[in-house]
Amino acid sequence: MRAATWQGVRDVRIEDVDDPKIEEPTDAIIKVTSSGLCGSDLHLYEVLSPFMTPGDVLGHEPMGIVQEVGSAVTDLAVGDRVVVPFQIACGTCYMCDHGLQTQCETTQIRDEGTGAALFGFSKLYGAVAGGQAEYLRVPQAQYGPIKVPDGPSDDRFLFLSDVLPTAWQSVEYADIPDGGTVVVMGLGPIGEMATRIAQHRGHRVIAVDLVSDRLERARSHGVEVLDWNEFDDLTGAVQELTGGRGPDAVIDAVGMEASGSPTAEMAHKVIGLLPRKVGETMMKNAGLDHLSALHASIDMVRRGGTISLIGVYGGAADPMPMLTMFDKQVRLHMGQANVKRWVDDIMPLLTDDDPLGVDAFASHHVALEDLPAAYDTFQKKEDGAFKYVVKP
Ligand SMILES: NC(=O)c1ccc[n+]([C@@H]2O[C@H](COP(=O)([O-])OP(=O)(O)OC[C@H]3O[C@@H](n4cnc5c(N)ncnc54)[C@H](O)[C@@H]3O)[C@@H](O)[C@H]2O)c1
Ligand SMILES: [Zn+2]
Ligand SMILES: [Zn+2]
Repeated sequence: MRAATWQGVRDVRIEDVDDPKIEEPTDAIIKVTSSGLCGSDLHLYEVLSPFMTPGDVLGHEPMGIVQEVGSAVTDLAVGDRVVVPFQIACGTCYMCDHGLQTQCETTQIRDEGTGAALFGFSKLYGAVAGGQAEYLRVPQAQYGPIKVPDGPSDDRFLFLSDVLPTAWQSVEYADIPDGGTVVVMGLGPIGEMATRIAQHRGHRVIAVDLVSDRLERARSHGVEVLDWNEFDDLTGAVQELTGGRGPDAVIDAVGMEASGSPTAEMAHKVIGLLPRKVGETMMKNAGLDHLSALHASIDMVRRGGTISLIGVYGGAADPMPMLTMFDKQVRLHMGQANVKRWVDDIMPLLTDDDPLGVDAFASHHVALEDLPAAYDTFQKKEDGAFKYVVKP
């Protein structure tokens, strides 16, 4: 089959790889009909490259048609239309029982000290072949795949794989009081969807980004937007909008690709280009000075407020303003999204009325062979690149 493979820093190629096969009784094989390209893929494209191996198949936002099932998969049949969550979870361990599927004790990558295995996400998360490919082996298929009805286009349901539950969790973890105000940092697909979900729940939403078409998209549905290029004192600007007190909650949907300081930009590049072992150690221990969005979040949130961290961060020695965090009595809730925990809440919103605007959410649909160019454009945020969906 054809698949998107990681070959090196900013080097994705479509290659012939072996067709996936059933390896465990709990596996299924799906024929992929749509697959998302995500901000998390951009981390692999560059900064997390020390953890990648040339030939790794990328992609963690797939959906498709069940092609084959293992003997232990009784709830799925050949021909079923399914969305596959980005994490692989068993559904029966202590963590899965507690709605923490990204910590699944059956699939945790203990050698790396990380949580549940993820599709297409480097050896840190099990080096499982991903879904930007014609076919996908789905482990733990007795639990993971979400059956969806025939009829509507793929885009109606595709974002259940990651964007929707991730944005949903970011709003849940923000714990915004009734009638409260939230600031969303970052208007990529995750932040944009978080603004829609927060509005849907009746909150006042302010958002910050630096890319004009992303700001415009949010403004078009009633979000109060701030272009960080225009403010030296972002916290001051947010406080002015919130009676001097600051918002009840801030959702950081930026993560470690934050633009901010030019030196940080250098550290990023350097880590991407270092010899593998050195880069790996630096990424884990030296930390990155790519915390502008997080530090701004801590600065602007009201005293006793909550920061919901949904952007992905790495680095064990990232400097954090502990005095401010402690003094302001800030609450911090973070982590990868536990996809299946939120599916029952989200599914009723995926109707013809389309209150979250999923049908028109993607900005680009591309063929598999055009995906390498899409990675490049998406990273540079050119051509209105917002959300790519690949149709293998
Ligand atoms: N926790 C999870 O389960 C999960 C799942 C999916 C994605 N993510 C993470 O969420 C983050 C966002 O994903 P995405 O697909 O929306 O990515 P994206 O790269 O498209 O979006 C990031 C946005 O942040 C903006 N930005 C950059 N620096 C900023 C700053 N200093 N202040 C404000 N905005 C800034 C960018 O212009 C961009 O619009 C990534 O870190 C991704 O890895 C987490
Ligand atoms: Zn994703
Ligand atoms: Zn589990």
